[in-house]
Amino acid sequence: MESFLIKGGVPLHGEVTISGSKNAALPIMAATLLTDEPCIIRGVPDLSDTRFMAQILQSLGAQVKFANGTLTIRAKKIRGYADYELVRKMRGSICIAGPLLARLHKARISLPGGCIIGARPINLHLKGFESLGAKIKIEGGYVDATAKKLVGSTMFLGGRAGSTVLGTANVMMAATLADGVTVIESAACEPEVVDLANFLNAMGAKISGAGGPTITISGVSKLHGAEHTVIPDRIETATFMIAAAATNGEVTIKNARADHLNAVIDKLNEAGVSIQNRGGNLLVRRGKKLRAADVTTLPYSGFPTDVQAQMMSLLALAPGISIITERIFESRFMHVSELARLGAEIEIEGPSAIVKGGRPLSGAPVMASDLRASAALVIAGLAAKGATQVNRIYHLDRGYEKMDAKLRKLGARIRRVEEK
Ligand code: EPU
Repeated sequence: MESFLIKGGVPLHGEVTISGSKNAALPIMAATLLTDEPCIIRGVPDLSDTRFMAQILQSLGAQVKFANGTLTIRAKKIRGYADYELVRKMRGSICIAGPLLARLHKARISLPGGCIIGARPINLHLKGFESLGAKIKIEGGYVDATAKKLVGSTMFLGGRAGSTVLGTANVMMAATLADGVTVIESAACEPEVVDLANFLNAMGAKISGAGGPTITISGVSKLHGAEHTVIPDRIETATFMIAAAATNGEVTIKNARADHLNAVIDKLNEAGVSIQNRGGNLLVRRGKKLRAADVTTLPYSGFPTDVQAQMMSLLALAPGISIITERIFESRFMHVSELARLGAEIEIEGPSAIVKGGRPLSGAPVMASDLRASAALVIAGLAAKGATQVNRIYHLDRGYEKMDAKLRKLGARIRRVEEK
């Protein structure tokens, strides 16, 4: 296993270019199963998660070529079965269910199970499929979804934490080939859902309303191949913004979509960070002093849960008390005890973390528990005095393309080493 060795205390300076969005690319890759024609997807980040999704598509019978960020996928003849060994490695793989159900009228997929950040149920995905007329059976750890035909319907997909991103994606994909009109109420409004809808429309689907809480899909009889470029990764963008602020640096971020980051930019401003949009590039600079701020994670357009951990690292440096409340995933605070090893003072009270910020951080060995927690530890390590070793960075490699190389280009002293 590999680790990052970081010598902290160096302000980041320079330019960084953001990769395509992981969470947009994964469902778009799954959507290529909806047609037997070739699809070309550009701007795909080279990550273990996208490579893994490519493997899943291959295991279903698709031909996949991946070169220089461009994926060419042809799912000419496919099967509708994905086993536990494939699905358990990446919960995002559940989004193959909708396309398989639409194209083959059957899907047998291992239940993904929970993960370190929370329970991750799929009841809303299944509710949506049932509403389209599918019969669902759960047996031996597998979901069997079958349908003579899918028929459009109106459904409410809100759950206890609000909308579901992959649930909306899954049902939207299934509904593209259903008979008649489907209306998804309480749909996820995330930019990744809009990107998927744009790709599906390029394939010949008839989807309107994506980006808002009501999505309407008029079923068509067939989809065709299409080309698409994936949107920039808003979570990677936010991570680099926070890293620049935490190290008191000045960074220009290229290939960023500020309009996807209003909640993050607003909170960073409140915390004393200046962000200027210069012709599409974002110039991030910290003001004289960081300030405490309260943050609550919410579905889009609220503050993203995927930036909660990184924001906590920044607020640990801001004098005063910040309250961070996690409303999407109940156990997404695994980074707290690791940040404490670097000297941060943080207490957990139910769904909130109370950050008593402003104490100096000092380097230590820490353990990454999930993708975004790893990013938070890297940021804290960059800001801390002395050496930090972030272990188990395979989590980070799932979702950040060449993060160490990008940080080095900004002047960070970060090395990838084999864990001892
Ligand atoms: N939920 C249900 N029932 C469902 C589905 C979800 O109750 O059937 C609940 C979840 O337990 C959670 C909430 O709804 O409390 C939101 O979960 P959602 O379904 O939106 O999450 P997801 O679609 O499985 C995607 C991203 C996550 C990101 C979340 C929230 C991908 C591949 N994953 O997951 O990304 O945190 O949306 O924005 O798109 C990451 O990139 O680090 C990551 C975890």
